[in-house]
Amino acid sequence: MEDRTAFVTGADHGLGLALTAGLLDRGWTVVAGRYNLQESALEALRRDGDHADRLTTVALDVSDSASVAEAARVTLADHPTIDLVVNNAAILGNRGLEHRIADGLDYDSIAETINVNSLGALRVVEALLPGVERSPMRRLCFVSSEAGSIARSHRPNWFGYSMSKCALNMAVSILFNDLRPRGYSFRVYHPGWMQTFMRGTPDTRATHTPQAAARLALEYFLDLEIDEDRLVMRDDRRDEWPW
Ligand SMILES: NC(=O)c1ccc[n+]([C@@H]2O[C@H](COP(=O)([O-])OP(=O)(O)OC[C@H]3O[C@@H](n4cnc5c(N)ncnc54)[C@H](OP(=O)(O)O)[C@@H]3O)[C@@H](O)[C@H]2O)c1
Repeated sequence: MEDRTAFVTGADHGLGLALTAGLLDRGWTVVAGRYNLQESALEALRRDGDHADRLTTVALDVSDSASVAEAARVTLADHPTIDLVVNNAAILGNRGLEHRIADGLDYDSIAETINVNSLGALRVVEALLPGVERSPMRRLCFVSSEAGSIARSHRPNWFGYSMSKCALNMAVSILFNDLRPRGYSFRVYHPGWMQTFMRGTPDTRATHTPQAAARLALEYFLDLEIDEDRLVMRDDRRDEWPW
């Protein structure tokens, strides 16, 4: 494969780390966004893997415009062309997550969740756009969630997370309207229930290991050319979700 470069957000652990490892295994060069600078898994991947020269890490807080701008500046200085952006970083917004309307809502937590999960992806796309523009591939991927589907909404709570993924989906729809005519392609994806850290500890009840989830995600992001001219949200079984 010719040398291709991906940028992955929220790569410290969970799906983002597994996507980073999966892309490296496929021969990609990866710039991995680190949010938690204490976390060692990415450094271990670089140290222990046989692809140290193809993995770069960059400090990245997608909720902060200055952090995103600096990460993009550093990235594009070394990697002027970005072929694939995977917007994966997100938070569940655990403070008040289970609250129903009568319990009183934590508006700061809801706003923080929307800032990270919806605006964060927009910031990253905007900052990296000059690099993506140089790529013939121009693929923008967004890890969304079933929780963002209005048509299948069923929870009486989870305001911040569900609203944030719904807003993310709309943001991608607007990007699609603008950028698809210029050759960009898009993937909006629900990765299934994963044994990751969204609740602070590994969720061992969940269906997929991060590695299995990443394999399925990369097949959709890279191998299947089925959704080029129509924006859809697909899940880990390739099923389409209503918005
Ligand atoms: N887990 C599931 O079952 C499930 C289901 C549907 C969709 N998803 C989606 O899948 C994606 C990956 O989630 P995951 O399950 O792998 O969760 P995770 O293990 O918590 O990973 C999320 C990553 O994003 C990072 N992050 C948090 N805030 C950030 C910020 N402000 N800037 C940059 N990075 C930040 C986290 O860093 P720290 O942890 O160090 O704070 C972590 O590395 C998310 O978009 C999530 O919404 C997950």
